[in-house]
Amino acid sequence: MSSALMHPAMNIMVKAARRASQIINRASQDVEHLKITVKQQRDFVTEIDKAAENAIIDILREAYPDYGILAEESGAFAGKDSGSEYQWIIDPLDGTTNFIHGFPQYAISIALAHRGQLTLGLVYDTLRNEMFTAAKGDGAYLNARRIRVSKCLHLEKSLIGTGFPFKVFDHLDAYMNIFRELTGKTSGIRRPGAASLDLAYVACGRLDAFWEFGLCPWDMAAGCMLILEAGGLVSDLSGGGAYLKNGNLVAGTPKIFAQLLQIIQKHGTPALSV
Ligand code: IPD
Ligand code: CA
Ligand code: CA
Repeated sequence: MSSALMHPAMNIMVKAARRASQIINRASQDVEHLKITVKQQRDFVTEIDKAAENAIIDILREAYPDYGILAEESGAFAGKDSGSEYQWIIDPLDGTTNFIHGFPQYAISIALAHRGQLTLGLVYDTLRNEMFTAAKGDGAYLNARRIRVSKCLHLEKSLIGTGFPFKVFDHLDAYMNIFRELTGKTSGIRRPGAASLDLAYVACGRLDAFWEFGLCPWDMAAGCMLILEAGGLVSDLSGGGAYLKNGNLVAGTPKIFAQLLQIIQKHGTPALSV
């Protein structure tokens, strides 16, 4: 058993993710009949996001009634102990647009934070049955196997993941300038469409780095935990640790992270660094 899976809370997270995955996998057989609601332009939610989230919350709350919750579809609320220092951060279905289209790239993401610091992270690719887990100080795992970020040293050899701006276009020019420069300086750029899984791929070396602006905490909390425990680095655009708050994320294997951050900072607007 991996040491992340030896944490009692991680066992509950795994149980919650498996329950949600049954809901998601069953629904994936029949995506034409999904009930879809538009939250805002290009931002969709299905009945499955909500059902999966409810299933996750039920299981987590049964085991840890005191803990607070921040979940994409239900928002933030306190547990029985309103003063609890623990908070679950949940994205029940990351990659909803992919899911709606039957595009096989989406995941469940659950993290636990203590006083705002990440302590546990889980990203579950329900289609491939790949369970990524990490506990602070205990390393990161894919199923039972220890994972580490890649050994890639040079940007020219790197494969970089990203998320395109698609809701707010305030920083599109900065984004496109970064994209243009990286297109010429890397082996390739990928936009698979589920940030949590992109980050899990950085943690296990399938990608060498990742950047995206305007993420929400539930998109990245678990994935960042994985990368940190796999020997990688994560930061906001100033190189600081406020990414969960400001939503702007740069992550990667140490060498590629540094080169990527430098390019992003060159093109990034001051507003993005806040
Ligand atoms: C989205 C995905 C996508 C990223 C967006 C997220 P959702 O999450 O992670 O890859 O580019 O920023 O909002 O809405 O599918 O849970
Ligand atoms: Ca998400
Ligand atoms: Ca989601």
